[in-house]
Amino acid sequence: MTARGTANGRVTLSDELIALEDTYGSGLYVKQPLVLTHGEGARVWDADGNTYIDCTSGHGVANVGHANPAVVKAVANQMARLVTAANGFYNDQRAELLAELARIAPPGLKRTFLCNSGAEAVEAAFKLARLATGRSRIVSTMRGFHGRTMGALSATWNKGYREPFEPLVPGFEFVPHGNLDRIDQAVGRETAAVILEVVQGEGGVHPGTGDYLHRVEALCAERGTLFIVDEVQTGFGRTGRMFACEHHGLRPDMMCVAKAIAGGVPMGAVVLGPRVGALPKRVHGSTFGGNPLACAAALASIRFIEEGDLPSRAARLGQRLMTALRGINAPLIREVRGLGLIVGLQLKGRAGPYLAKLAEPVDGVGVLALTAGSTVMRLLPPLVISEEDIDRVVARVAAVVTAGG
Ligand SMILES: Cc1ncc(COP(=O)(O)O)c(C=O)c1O
Repeated sequence: MTARGTANGRVTLSDELIALEDTYGSGLYVKQPLVLTHGEGARVWDADGNTYIDCTSGHGVANVGHANPAVVKAVANQMARLVTAANGFYNDQRAELLAELARIAPPGLKRTFLCNSGAEAVEAAFKLARLATGRSRIVSTMRGFHGRTMGALSATWNKGYREPFEPLVPGFEFVPHGNLDRIDQAVGRETAAVILEVVQGEGGVHPGTGDYLHRVEALCAERGTLFIVDEVQTGFGRTGRMFACEHHGLRPDMMCVAKAIAGGVPMGAVVLGPRVGALPKRVHGSTFGGNPLACAAALASIRFIEEGDLPSRAARLGQRLMTALRGINAPLIREVRGLGLIVGLQLKGRAGPYLAKLAEPVDGVGVLALTAGSTVMRLLPPLVISEEDIDRVVARVAAVVTAGG
């Protein structure tokens, strides 16, 4: 399909593509009216040729940047060799990736179940927690987000996601993130697992404190409950460490990851600690889980993150970003929070309208950002973003929030 004209009252290529998605898509998503066609590093382009600094990373996926050459090469090579090798067989890429995950995960996490998304990783963690403990209850946190499949949704706080689908899985309970008394009361003899995010992402970018997280870990250990950390959004360098657990020296029993694991190729994983124990054959599985294509992409992506020391880069650039955002003198900004390159601006009003303003190209470049809840603007740029682009983002955010939306 080619463009039929420009925006001056005529139908553009973007208009046509938007109409196609709106007509034939599920209609489930709130969308910005931009058709993204390609990217490089921290920049993406739309079908009309406009350039954007991408502070969404496809919801925290593109940590190594768009069209990362190392990932492109690994995927192309693997595509030409072997795309599928079911889990009933062994595979070279899968074997190497499993060993790599055991090497980079927090201490004690040595075995991994591979799947295809964050929600699937969380589902697997719940099933394995029930199996390992013989208990059924799960405690999760208010403002937490763990996915949209029935089990993961049962642990997700936002009522807007949950209520249309009730009744959900029984045995789930929410406690306030950060409140030790409440979690102490909630974790009992029937509690299979506690699940939480080290930095709550979708819930508004709220980093947990080391003291709270350690005490939850200890409480779980005392009571025979498994401690599951959801690093789907925070994993693979985003927060300034390979995993956010490392900021506090946490030793969870399971760690769920997805999003950035494979340089943009869909993949999820649950990394398992010793308290999960030996698992019976056939109780869980996935056709696409651990397919050689995604494994090759993940190997290339992990290598790129380590060789470029992207976690340190995220820590340094995150500090630069947050310091500059805190320096913006705008009554609309209530607070700037974050860890590394997961950054939230808590506004005094709704954040949504500001995203469209930010996306408008100025000097040929727009900025793409996310919300996290209704009043938080969330910035999740690729970890390869340049300092100049960080400064451009700050200048655009300052202009938009001081202009009042
Ligand atoms: C912390 C967390 N867990 C789980 C998920 C679900 O991941 P997916 O959308 O890949 O199912 C998300 C997605 O945003 C997430 O941020």
